[in-house]
Amino acid sequence: MCGIVGYTGPREAYPIIIKGLKRLEYRGYDSTGVALQNGGLKVFKKKGKVAGLEDTIVGKDLHAHTGIGHTRWATHGEPSDINAHPHTSASGKLAIIHNGIIENYSQLKQELTNKGYSFKSDTDTEVLLNFIEEIKKNNKCDLEEAVRIALKRVTGAYVILLLDEDKPDTIIAARKGSPLVIGIGKGEHFLGSDASPMLEYTKEVVYVNDYELAIVKPDELILKNLGNAKLTPYIQKLDIELAAIEKGGYDHFMLKEIFEQPQTIYDCLRGRLDAVAGTITMSGIEQYAEQIRHAKRIVMVACGTSWHAALTAEYIFEELCRINVEVEYASEFRYRNPVIHRGDVIIAISQSGETADTLVAIENAKAKGAIILGVVNVVGSSIARASHGGAYTHAGPEIGVASTKAFTAQLAVLTMIALKIGHEKGVLDDDRYMHLLNELYEVPEKCAWVLKSKDHIKALAEKYKDARDFLYLGRGYNFPVALEGALKLKEISYIHAEGYPAAEMKHGPIALVDENLPVVFVATKDTYHDKVISNIQEIKARKGKVIAVITDGDEISKALCDDVIIVPEADEIMAPMLSVVPLQLLAYYIGVARGCDVDKPRNLAKSVTVE
Ligand code: AGP
Repeated sequence: MCGIVGYTGPREAYPIIIKGLKRLEYRGYDSTGVALQNGGLKVFKKKGKVAGLEDTIVGKDLHAHTGIGHTRWATHGEPSDINAHPHTSASGKLAIIHNGIIENYSQLKQELTNKGYSFKSDTDTEVLLNFIEEIKKNNKCDLEEAVRIALKRVTGAYVILLLDEDKPDTIIAARKGSPLVIGIGKGEHFLGSDASPMLEYTKEVVYVNDYELAIVKPDELILKNLGNAKLTPYIQKLDIELAAIEKGGYDHFMLKEIFEQPQTIYDCLRGRLDAVAGTITMSGIEQYAEQIRHAKRIVMVACGTSWHAALTAEYIFEELCRINVEVEYASEFRYRNPVIHRGDVIIAISQSGETADTLVAIENAKAKGAIILGVVNVVGSSIARASHGGAYTHAGPEIGVASTKAFTAQLAVLTMIALKIGHEKGVLDDDRYMHLLNELYEVPEKCAWVLKSKDHIKALAEKYKDARDFLYLGRGYNFPVALEGALKLKEISYIHAEGYPAAEMKHGPIALVDENLPVVFVATKDTYHDKVISNIQEIKARKGKVIAVITDGDEISKALCDDVIIVPEADEIMAPMLSVVPLQLLAYYIGVARGCDVDKPRNLAKSVTVE
């Protein structure tokens, strides 16, 4: 879950690398470093964020035209100056940065120790580098060949970028399981974990595939497989603007992304949903519609917020398509040896498209003959490329570690798929289908309406920011929204929070209720509303403080609760895309009020590329 950047060309490498690292800091930010080819290898690295490193090397000779940089999320070896990347080899002539985990590193370390090697850090990466140097020395070969040979012995996930003091303008890069993008410039090349470090310099990129190796020079890019066969790079044009990855006047990316939702939900529907003609066009789903319509069950696989989108989709698909849905935590599903039949439909949901557990879970299922459909935000990402078909969520780059706009876009895509299949199966008659199509089409506007309550929600955040615990409750479609609200608060404010189906309270958690416990109800008007009202009364009877997200005009709930946040009337199937927004804002404002780094919360990273 680290961020890697590389540059070789006529420009000064250091400023490009540092700016790129700051853009990738959402991937990991516990330590950082750069290596520059400047009359030999110059390495500067430090525990902490990129800005801290910058301050410590001001005034140093940072001139270089080739360099690599890294921002870390520690796996092997605690965050420290010595464990920070880049690492240098025993001879000092090679430098490496790495994103991923070398699983058989202790065995390699033993082999090298027996050969007299010692290690400065606790990292798997330094072991890999010395393993490569040992091969280079023994086989009297160049770095490219040594890397190719070494990687045949390595198990695990990696993107590695290497520099060799003897080849000052060349970067050797290789990938398996972690993301690597190469940007093509005129007489220069850029490398990154995603396109954000190179977006302002080029729109032409190559997404490197697993088991590929790149030899990158200012005016040459050679792509090979580990069998040393040359490959033709597939150059793609990026269609995102730099502004999309800047804060646009907001204090934080998270707040900007929450306020982008009316537009991002609309972008998700655009060109797919025609509420007048009554059509839903999704080319990546069309070709598998037959299998989906006849599927006995659909298995949805995801992690974190994406898992909450899957859980919401379970209610929607079972209601609209009458197909049994199983929702799986990818980390359990990949090891549980689940029963998968040839032709089973698996829907993998992921913002980053790089979450290791989800990626491996679908690769396992694919190997058993399942059809994999991806609902993914990052174009060209591993899960998208590992899927047979699917749909992008078009939410644009999501920089804040806490997922917000990707969640509502995931719900919009999954709802469109369910509506399409439900209507084609004849489960949905034309009237209900058209009604729901129009309800979905109105969500962006209603979402904008909800955002107008930001000042009210900010005041509520001020009122409740010192609470030690929170409970989030909902029923039906709103139960997963309650789970998502609790997750957002945990991630952003570090307050302990739990989400529950409201009726589950009586079976234990209600013991936690007293006058100090804020209980957030997602209580929009729906099939379950009367039941939710009784649940609110149960909490009030025990002096719990009730904050409820309610539907405009619901005076009963308003009278019952301590505080309410009002959202517009909407069909219960669309309500989750509205009722989650106040919960995102509540978590955000409580996090800010408690002085937390809401874009880069402690211990977290944007995409979890290791298991
Ligand atoms: C959500 O706010 C978190 N960032 C995290 O739970 C995230 O949803 C999870 O890691 C899954 O990520 P993905 O959607 O990129 O696969």
